[in-house]
Amino acid sequence: MNETGQSEGGIADAIFHRRAVRRYSDREPEPGTVEKLLVAAVQAPSAMNQQPWVFGVFHGHERLRAYSERAKAYLVATYPTLMELHSRSELYEDPAYDLFHGADTLIVIYAKAGRLHPNEDCCLAAENLMLAAHGMGLGTCPIGFARPWLDRWEIKRELGVPEHYAAVFPVVVGYPAGPTPSPSREEPEIVSWRWDRREPRAPA
Ligand SMILES: Cc1cc2nc3c(=O)[nH]c(=O)nc-3n(C[C@H](O)[C@H](O)[C@H](O)COP(=O)(O)O)c2cc1C
Repeated sequence: MNETGQSEGGIADAIFHRRAVRRYSDREPEPGTVEKLLVAAVQAPSAMNQQPWVFGVFHGHERLRAYSERAKAYLVATYPTLMELHSRSELYEDPAYDLFHGADTLIVIYAKAGRLHPNEDCCLAAENLMLAAHGMGLGTCPIGFARPWLDRWEIKRELGVPEHYAAVFPVVVGYPAGPTPSPSREEPEIVSWRWDRREPRAPA
């Protein structure tokens, strides 16, 4: 049992202990790791089982560092409102700041067009992927700030992604370089919880 009363190693462990990892070690994930994560991702539920997801996998520190610079420049130039919403948006103008946190692997979940609830489905796939990664000792971090750049048609073309696929959820993966701080959660806020009193059963 851990401090939350959950058993170690199971789904509750992953739910309670997965963290957004922002420091990665040089240790490379074993061959087959990405494939295992994608198989876990596609076990997610999807509206009418439409499975609208496709995946892009991009490896290499230098490649990701270059993407980071381009994505940051795009963000700063085109997303003023989004930047205002972010408490540390000045980071994105700092040349030393790596949007991908030094990770070696970026997985982007894209949604096929013309599906019922593609964004929800892809986010569920992303959560599966992140929980599965945690179970394998890996760290992950969603990189929402790279999404607008990754969704540009020119960039999709450059990366070999069909332009009609929408970039929904970028996530980096790697072995964490040390412990990750655990941000707190607020208690669930229940705004409504209604029920009708059950009618007493009629005697037989
Ligand atoms: C849609 C989405 C976008 C996010 N984008 C970023 C991002 O661009 N960069 C980053 O470092 N973390 C990003 N995060 C991670 C959150 O900051 C993190 O999940 C949150 O602070 C809670 O921390 P925890 O995941 O360790 O519990 C994102 C998370 C989500 C769900």
